[in-house]
Amino acid sequence: MASSVLRAIRKATKMQPKIVFVLGGPGAGKGTQCQKIVENFGYVHLSAGDLLREERNKPGSEYGELIENYIREGKIVPVEITCSLLENAINGSGKDKFLVDGFPRNQNNLDGWNKSVADKIQLQFVLVFECPMEICTERCLSRGAGGSGRSDDNLESLKKRFNTYLNETKPIIDYYEKLSLVRRIDATRSADEVYDDVKKIFQDYDVAGGDK
Ligand code: ADP
Ligand code: C5P
Ligand code: MG
Repeated sequence: MASSVLRAIRKATKMQPKIVFVLGGPGAGKGTQCQKIVENFGYVHLSAGDLLREERNKPGSEYGELIENYIREGKIVPVEITCSLLENAINGSGKDKFLVDGFPRNQNNLDGWNKSVADKIQLQFVLVFECPMEICTERCLSRGAGGSGRSDDNLESLKKRFNTYLNETKPIIDYYEKLSLVRRIDATRSADEVYDDVKKIFQDYDVAGGDK
């Protein structure tokens, strides 16, 4: 069957994977909150950063060195790499609800996603964790001190990561804001307090009928 017909059938029968994008500065608490959402709402957590680190660590990976350089410099890896890691994870999971954490992070991410994935999935909303740079930096530095082993949890990389967030990711949030898809959360409070707000957003979405 032609793939456009298959897509139309999937859309009509709501069989498409459901996606929530999760964005916020480095250390805003995206991963922490995603874990809690997984426990209560049955989503699969896919962190673009985790997938890239996993790919980088594969012996003989074609992209290992490139990924490590981008990560240390706080730059965004070309979308072809990230999108195919995400697509493989989505298609290989056998599940239908995903938190895509740390993506799309710039215009290149957004264009690549819109070109090859967007019309095969249902974007539910975009969750944005708002947290000032000082708090984000503190959290990432303690994560590094606590043994994260991440090559970018240091002051020099963090400055670059935050600049990337302000200059490249914020415009993507503005784009989704215009589509009324953004749900903002004050992420400066304790993880449990932040989660109280997160939970309400997911509950309200379900009550409102979500995608039905
Ligand atoms: P992100 O995925 O956005 O980079 P993480 O969830 O990995 O952020 O959190 C960064 C660090 O801050 C971790 O060490 C985590 O334990 C801690 N953390 C997460 N949320 C909070 C919070 N609300 N208050 C204090 N520390 C937090
Ligand atoms: O989200 P996380 O903090 O784990 O991302 C770490 C790094 O991974 C980013 O600073 C960036 O270099 C890279 N990354 C990327 N493209 C994404 C997500 C992460 O290049 N969409
Ligand atoms: Mg994370």
